[in-house]
Amino acid sequence: MKTLVVANWKLNPQKLAEARVLGSRVEQGLLGMNREGMEVVLCPPFVFLPALKMLAHFAKLGAQNISHEGKGAFTGEVSADQLKEFGVEYVIVGHSERRTLGEDDKAINKKIKVCLEKKLQPILCVGYGTKKSQRISEIKKIISRQLKKDLSGLGRDVSKVAVVYEPVWAISRGLGTGKAVTPEHGKEIIDYVRSKGEFKKVIYGGSLDGNNSGAFAKAGIEGGLVGGASLDAEEFLKIVNAFTIN
Ligand code: PGA
Repeated sequence: MKTLVVANWKLNPQKLAEARVLGSRVEQGLLGMNREGMEVVLCPPFVFLPALKMLAHFAKLGAQNISHEGKGAFTGEVSADQLKEFGVEYVIVGHSERRTLGEDDKAINKKIKVCLEKKLQPILCVGYGTKKSQRISEIKKIISRQLKKDLSGLGRDVSKVAVVYEPVWAISRGLGTGKAVTPEHGKEIIDYVRSKGEFKKVIYGGSLDGNNSGAFAKAGIEGGLVGGASLDAEEFLKIVNAFTIN
């Protein structure tokens, strides 16, 4: 069983030199690990992809977003073909921070279809709209609605999609509280997602760190989407390690 650990650098770091150092440190760490059972993906801001392509050997490259258009008059967009030029193999789609900026389920559905058509691995985030106080049954309803809309028309191709359960309130910065869900909560919702389709992988995101990731791995969760902690190579490698050895 391969684990999938994805670093979502978001709008960080600010300097190319910092991005190079961070990427190189992760690479050095991966060099000394048994990499057989793991997929580690670095998702830097678009502008750092060329530099990361030069130094990433063990880690794969991912994008934080993609245009659902192929080419043409779409200011500020980046296409699948352009991403592939820089070695991108994975794309985070439907992150809550993008949904908050106005990306709707229709656009997310189109983006997933573009990814599959272009042989990029979509990593679909669900869980947006959930509040900490919400009951498990309500969270399941929200996720069920999101999965239905975001994966509409995919048929058996849902097996090519990786899904992240990422409740907004559990994110470490920005919209969240900085508190991860309990591994039991994560497992329950992830099992629910699994019951909705034969997805490639279902992982957890939200305030994962070097201390708590082992418990998620032990609970049977096959990986994570890591934001804040992925900006510290040592911390990120601890998370990778935890999901690999457990
Ligand atoms: P976090 O973010 O690990 O900082 O909570 C995860 C994400 O939003 O991708």
